[in-house]
Amino acid sequence: MIDPRELLAIKRDGGALTAAQSAELLDAYTRGDVADYHAAVLLTSIFIHSMTDKELAGWTRGMIGTGRTLSFETDRPKVDKHSTGGVGDKVSLPLAPALAACGCAVPMISGRGLGHTGGTLDKLEAIPGLRTEFDAEELQGLLDSAGFFVAAQTADLVPADKLLYALRDVTGLVASPPLISSSILSKKLAEGLDALVLDVKVGSGSFLTNQEMANEVTRRMHVIASDFQLPMTIFRTSMKAPLGCAVGHTLEVAESLECLRGGGPDDLRELVTLLGGELLRLSGVASSEEGGRAKIESALDSGRALAAFEAGVQAQGGDVAALEAEGGLPAAPDLEHLCADTAGYVNFTDCAAIGRAVGSLGGGRTHLGDEIDMGVGLVLTKRQGDRVDAGEPLCAIHHRGGVGLEEACSQLLAAIEVVDSPEVEPLVLDG
Ligand code: URA
Repeated sequence: MIDPRELLAIKRDGGALTAAQSAELLDAYTRGDVADYHAAVLLTSIFIHSMTDKELAGWTRGMIGTGRTLSFETDRPKVDKHSTGGVGDKVSLPLAPALAACGCAVPMISGRGLGHTGGTLDKLEAIPGLRTEFDAEELQGLLDSAGFFVAAQTADLVPADKLLYALRDVTGLVASPPLISSSILSKKLAEGLDALVLDVKVGSGSFLTNQEMANEVTRRMHVIASDFQLPMTIFRTSMKAPLGCAVGHTLEVAESLECLRGGGPDDLRELVTLLGGELLRLSGVASSEEGGRAKIESALDSGRALAAFEAGVQAQGGDVAALEAEGGLPAAPDLEHLCADTAGYVNFTDCAAIGRAVGSLGGGRTHLGDEIDMGVGLVLTKRQGDRVDAGEPLCAIHHRGGVGLEEACSQLLAAIEVVDSPEVEPLVLDG
């Protein structure tokens, strides 16, 4: 049992921890030799005084060192994408198999939804039988058979982050750029990647609504990636409006399948090809981002990405036949349309509220462990800047016997306005 008081005092007084000191504290905390109250003091001090760039790199190394680094055996370049999360963000579902179809290995460790955003693991679990919890040996088998997997963090992958993230959540210490960037990148670095693309969402539907914070998280992530010599590109993309038209688990799987068949909403396809194209460039599979995009487009349009998706679904125990069958995925039985009162142009004023509306229908969770109704959700029939006439539907709401419908409708009405002239924001803000 170590006495952490001397090390805690360094951060309390605004100093910087060395890499060895961070590793000692993180290791002792993960083993249970440092108490949560010590860790809460440390996190508070980091939250207030921040970290130097050098200290952050050492801290991230210490986080990774609390667990096991995955090292997959494959001749293919290992690539992954991470998004900071947003409403309707289903990019991982078509992107991972499209990259596999282009010759990459994609060991995607993903998360669950909480609050207004849905999680990739939850969305995939709308497919009957599909599992997302595997140990490291099983993950190697999935990569061998399908070229990709989308799975939950194993117990031994950055265990310090699991503990610290939960502690930050209950103590109001999530919004710290060094803590956010080390939390996200420690897990990605532990995947043993050759290249990474990050999609930092900006806007009312994102987790980083504050522009300054988004900039600082982006800068800190570059610092960490360069210390680890990980080829990485960060794109900042708009979360003023939901991505695609569908929000809700089954509905998002269905929209992802449209994308995998070469169709689907333009913005979804645009992000899949942009992020995928850049990963193919970073990993040397393509000589330029444009060339990479063309390869991803061809994988989507030829059915190769869909075939890879089906192989992945099967490898993870999912029912591939359910993807094609009428009623194969869990659907909500009831439909209601929300219509515009006046004519004009659609403007989303509060994208997070659209995610919360799906939560009201039963399609989200406020606490980890809450049950989700996979079938409920909504499909936007009008997008940001679209012309709408009075009485025309703005969206179709898929509900179960009216559960949460009234609340969802009032959240949607507050989040969508009809204005006199169209306002359109570019999807890709920079990268
Ligand atoms: N996601 C993470 O994994 N960690 C954070 O700190 C924030 C978002």
